[in-house]
Amino acid sequence: MKKNVLIVGAGGVAHVAAHKCAEHNDVLGDICIASRTQGKCEAIIESVNRKSHLKDKSKKIYSRRIDALDVPSTVKLIRETDSQIVINLAQAYVNMSLLEACIQAGVAYMDTAIHEDPNKVCEDPPWYANYEWKRKDRCKEHGITAILGAGFDPGVVNAYCALAAKHYFDKIDTIDILDVNAGSHGKYFATNFDPEINFREFKKVWTWIDRKWVCEKVHAVKMVYDFPVVGKMPVYLNGHDELHSLSKNIDADSIRFWMGFGDHYINVFTVLTNLGLTSEKPVRTAEGVEVVPLKVLKAILPDPSSLAPNYTGKTCIGNYVKGTKNGKRREIFIYNICDHAVCYKEVESQAISYTAGVPPVAAAILIARGIWDPKTMVNVEELDPDPFIELLGPMGLPTVVEEHPALLPSSERVK
Ligand SMILES: NC(=O)c1ccc[n+]([C@@H]2O[C@H](COP(=O)([O-])OP(=O)(O)OC[C@H]3O[C@@H](n4cnc5c(N)ncnc54)[C@H](OP(=O)(O)O)[C@@H]3O)[C@@H](O)[C@H]2O)c1
Repeated sequence: MKKNVLIVGAGGVAHVAAHKCAEHNDVLGDICIASRTQGKCEAIIESVNRKSHLKDKSKKIYSRRIDALDVPSTVKLIRETDSQIVINLAQAYVNMSLLEACIQAGVAYMDTAIHEDPNKVCEDPPWYANYEWKRKDRCKEHGITAILGAGFDPGVVNAYCALAAKHYFDKIDTIDILDVNAGSHGKYFATNFDPEINFREFKKVWTWIDRKWVCEKVHAVKMVYDFPVVGKMPVYLNGHDELHSLSKNIDADSIRFWMGFGDHYINVFTVLTNLGLTSEKPVRTAEGVEVVPLKVLKAILPDPSSLAPNYTGKTCIGNYVKGTKNGKRREIFIYNICDHAVCYKEVESQAISYTAGVPPVAAAILIARGIWDPKTMVNVEELDPDPFIELLGPMGLPTVVEEHPALLPSSERVK
């Protein structure tokens, strides 16, 4: 039984993960939240205490300051806190350093996004091969459990692919991952998670079609899908982390990712991009100050966690899977609905952070109990989906499998 969790990062996703770890601290033990700004960790602990979420009062929840790019200091922190499970919820720039620290300290590692090099965007597929997968052999050699991409997407949607392959299909033709936020935050413009990371996603669209990588333009292919509960919403073909591992691990002809955007979002994003404000490349001002436009944009846009108190509406994220079972055609939609206001009431957060923050804690519980403890590096779809999906329901993210969903319409090229 592994115990004591170190959460790295203190943003919106870490906020939710801390609440959920506290609610399960009888299994997980002491919880340390460590980030660059210790005050943000303390604010999360105040929220956990305000909601009286610490289940076993004999266990601690406390904070530390850490720069996760500093491997020796992180190894020291892991040892000092006696943490056996590290949940990486910092920006994805730290993945490789934090993974290295976990290997050196001999503890389990988990994250929710692919490693990012600050100077590169939308890297060539499979992106994981440029970073995390290079450490796979060392994880195996040292018996380190490293679970990559354990949020919702990537994360739960990867488990939905494994679930489809295990129970519902003999042969999968296509998987369309659909992610829509039908919520309203009342701001002129805001992103639902880190704007810097969010905008870096929208530079190129890598997608897996007929077992080959195809590169499309951003926001160029659109369809309107009639989602359960939230109704008809426009979604656009998008690149996304999970495609980079699913293309290797799931036997399907095509796997695509679609994200929902309203016209207002597309208009503002297009203006910002055309002005160069979503660029990750530094520019020099007349005063000689070097700035990265994307980082300036992050500094002026609303902090995603500040959206939570007034957020209304729901998210729907799921996999539309087509294939055959026992010689018969089958189409199913496996999905979750999450309500912003319900999340706020429960953990003082919005649904995007909630859907991303609950799954790594479910995975940590499975690691702690030895149910998911492969002692090597894996992506979520390589693990048994059943215990994960079963646990997510009572933790706040129930799964619905719809046998005869609204049919997926054909898409149109809009650029
Ligand atoms: N798979 C999914 O479903 C999913 C969905 C949403 C988000 N995510 C991922 O979840 C992660 C967290 O997202 P978020 O919205 O919570 O982001 P966020 O609000 O920007 O928070 C990131 C946190 O990381 C900390 N941090 C950054 N660099 C650090 C370093 N070198 N050392 C220590 N801490 C550092 C930041 O500290 P300071 O604030 O002090 O700078 C901040 O507290 C991101 O990787 C994001 O891509 C995954």
